[in-house]
Amino acid sequence: MDISKNTFRFIILLATCALLVFADYRNSLRICKIECVISPLGRLRVVNESCTIKAMSRYRTAINADAYLLEPFDDVLINMQIFKKNSVTYIPYLVNITVNICKFLGGDSVGAAGFYTRFMIGWVNKYSNVNHSCPYSGLLWVRNLEPFADKIPVFAPIGDYRLDLHFYQSSLKNLLATVRGYGTIKLKPYME
Ligand SMILES: *[C@@H]1O[C@H](CO)[C@@H](O)[C@H](O)[C@H]1NC(C)=O
Ligand SMILES: *[C@@H]1O[C@H](CO)[C@@H](O)[C@H](O)[C@H]1NC(C)=O
Ligand SMILES: *[C@@H]1O[C@H](CO)[C@@H](O)[C@H](O)[C@H]1NC(C)=O
Repeated sequence: MDISKNTFRFIILLATCALLVFADYRNSLRICKIECVISPLGRLRVVNESCTIKAMSRYRTAINADAYLLEPFDDVLINMQIFKKNSVTYIPYLVNITVNICKFLGGDSVGAAGFYTRFMIGWVNKYSNVNHSCPYSGLLWVRNLEPFADKIPVFAPIGDYRLDLHFYQSSLKNLLATVRGYGTIKLKPYME
């Protein structure tokens, strides 16, 4: 994957689905919306899901999400894609990776995707109960998921972005759920 460190960090920030003030205080990312959609297949095994954005202050937001897994999951693929909006629609932007999260958490190498995955889990970890090896079952939760405590310098073009996370069981044919976060990068900072 031939992308710069800054680009990578930018991706992670988008993935946080939250508001962030960049280190140079000229750009900021604000996540406006999050959607969680369970597929018909997923509906047989996942209940009581919820995804919300909570205002922590005027300019800070955080993600809260829950889902209850009725059965153990031990072979889950996650596909992560970033889109950037042109004047009309969202078009693919730089990142489209797929990782077998159970293999990853079990310590197996998952190639280039491991880089993204490690970063994501390392960050989400302390706001959730997701950092353990498979199987996953019962209640999964994410609470007050906020951007990184320290502000990270990021140089990303202004505009509207979308991050898609697709969850699959065993193969890309078996979609379980889709999580979408919408955000905007602006020049003017959202100061606290
Ligand atoms: C789902 O939510 C309903 C209504 O709140 C509750 O009665 C039920 O026990 C929940 N199911 C699980 C598996 O948590
Ligand atoms: C992204 O990757 C998935 C899985 O490899 C593939 O099916 C899809 O077509 C890709 N999307 C784009 C826009 O390249
Ligand atoms: C997950 O938790 C384990 C045990 O607490 C810890 O050693 C590991 O570093 C964590 N992994 C990540 C990616 O944070």
